[in-house]
Amino acid sequence: MQQDSTAHQAASTAGGRPARTVRPRHFLMCSPEHFDVVYSINPWMEPEKPTDTALAVAQWERLRSLYLGLGHKVELIDPVPGLPDMVFSANGATVVDGKVLAARFRHAQRVDEGPAYAAWFRERGYEVLDGTHINEGEGDYLVTGDRILAGTGFRTDRRSHAEAERFLGRPVVTLELVDPRFYHLDTALAVLDHEEIMYYPAAFTPGSRATLRELYPDAIVATEDDAAVFGLNAVSDGRHVLLPEQATHLIDALWSRGFVPIGVDLSELLKSGGSSKCCTLEIRDRVPGADS
Ligand code: ARG
Repeated sequence: MQQDSTAHQAASTAGGRPARTVRPRHFLMCSPEHFDVVYSINPWMEPEKPTDTALAVAQWERLRSLYLGLGHKVELIDPVPGLPDMVFSANGATVVDGKVLAARFRHAQRVDEGPAYAAWFRERGYEVLDGTHINEGEGDYLVTGDRILAGTGFRTDRRSHAEAERFLGRPVVTLELVDPRFYHLDTALAVLDHEEIMYYPAAFTPGSRATLRELYPDAIVATEDDAAVFGLNAVSDGRHVLLPEQATHLIDALWSRGFVPIGVDLSELLKSGGSSKCCTLEIRDRVPGADS
């Protein structure tokens, strides 16, 4: 675990902790009504293990009501029968300044989710680009204050990164994943605030690790235990950080940085290799003059 940064101390409140403020979010979620694990496209998915769809819905509802209780706006997309992973809305697109880069999925089992999400945005008047290359939305594109961190290695084709940079208008930093358990960037790294992140270094190539160390010397570094319970599949609103309650080291580190961690239980969805962040697509609407 890294030491507290002096930069944070500069912005500290009287109590010695950084002042954290909520930026209200606009999220898109999809109910897991049709959730199941019937194929395996990542090491977490074991189709022979039973799933409990009613429990998945209850856990997801709890996540949704937490967001609403924190003052965030949550919109819903209708789940499509036969697309059991559609609950993972983070994979459906990447939205920056009202521009939508539609997902193009790597596996045949999920391909139809891309057009379903793109249609939702088109119907609401968003500018949508159908990506030329495979990209799994915010699974691999994480937007920080100034740039977009972009995963590759398992799902998103690195050629998509240049397209994302051009279309979304922010610099894209390519990060290569190496551990099949952490197949999407959002399973290995979470954005906490403007340029603050937490991540699990061993999920990345040595080169990408060096990039992360240089860009984010004050990052919270996750232990393997925390990463293995999907502790990095977290959603931050700048103050509250929703993450699996089992990620105890991260929870302590977040408190010490002045964040308010909120433990959630999405054990059913973990059977498909997903947790809070996977179930949450952030819609960054175009707000003239506003910061991200
Ligand atoms: N079963 C899904 C898959 O392997 C899980 C996706 C999780 N989503 C995420 N943003 N990491 O594609």
